[in-house]
Amino acid sequence: MAKPRVFSGVQPTGNLHLGNYLGAIRNWVGLQADYECIYCVVDMHAITIWQDPADLARATREVTASLIAAGIDPTHSVLFNQSKVAAHAETAWIFNCVARMGWLNRMTQFKEKAGKDRENASVGLFAYPNLMAADILAYQATHVPVGEDQKQHLELARDIAQKFNFDYGVEHFPAPEPLILGEATRVMSLRDGTKKMSKSDASDQSRINLTDSADDIELKIRRAKTDPAALPETVEELETRPEARNLYTIHAALGDESVADVVAAFAGKQFSDFKKAMTERAVSRLGPLTAEMRRLVADPGYIDQVLRAGAERANAIAEPILAETKRIVGFI
Ligand code: TRP
Repeated sequence: MAKPRVFSGVQPTGNLHLGNYLGAIRNWVGLQADYECIYCVVDMHAITIWQDPADLARATREVTASLIAAGIDPTHSVLFNQSKVAAHAETAWIFNCVARMGWLNRMTQFKEKAGKDRENASVGLFAYPNLMAADILAYQATHVPVGEDQKQHLELARDIAQKFNFDYGVEHFPAPEPLILGEATRVMSLRDGTKKMSKSDASDQSRINLTDSADDIELKIRRAKTDPAALPETVEELETRPEARNLYTIHAALGDESVADVVAAFAGKQFSDFKKAMTERAVSRLGPLTAEMRRLVADPGYIDQVLRAGAERANAIAEPILAETKRIVGFI
């Protein structure tokens, strides 16, 4: 039997960091064994908010490099950038005519991103979830690994698939399902344990980038915010200690163990002992990845060739589906 098809996308806006790696990309790598995986660098989504063209091009290559460095095998999985495959835009237009204004008006991410000045948000930002639905359904993908923040958009993609099928009296698009992979690792800022680790944080000390050297990683962990209390004796204690909880969560995730294991291993010890162990683990686990990442970034010709080959394979899957979509709609 054919493997079920997974689609997921990542925006090329700025550098990827440890939060992206532990929260999403690591899971994408693991899915390759059991699913037919299509992974897309969504440059068309990126421009729903202004992007400097040179920065966008650089970020597209960098994100591609980090996916490869993290273990996405581009000869196995389909890896490409969205703008190279026209089926995304073409399907999205049809979905603009399927989705209702009322549905999109309920999207919380639009409200957050548009902020107070909604009148000045791009139309693309409003229609963003329709393009995301098109990404998935252009391949008739059935499974989508997404984080908490994208669940509402995936729900909308299901609604669009169902309304399309109902309106046209077909069974053309599957209703894609979220793929929840264990407990998502929520990585917080190294400077403030209550804020998500983010590429838009002004302080580079707040995050570990996938391009950081071993020295950078060491320094950032050494400077990471902690609290004055002794190391916790129980997991419950961590609930009120966001910085300690964050560092324990990262250490556990990097060692494929539970936070309870980490609590047990360090109870009664000093923060300096913990940070030393954490640094060693982070450097040994991330070092090869970040070195490979820097090597790939220095070879843009190779990255471009990977994206071209990926787009050809993506197109071969999407083309017959798009032809059928158009036929159903009545396009001749
Ligand atoms: N909106 C997603 C994000 O910002 C990225 C994305 C675009 C995506 N298209 C997708 C994710 C399709 C899953 C499936 O994280």
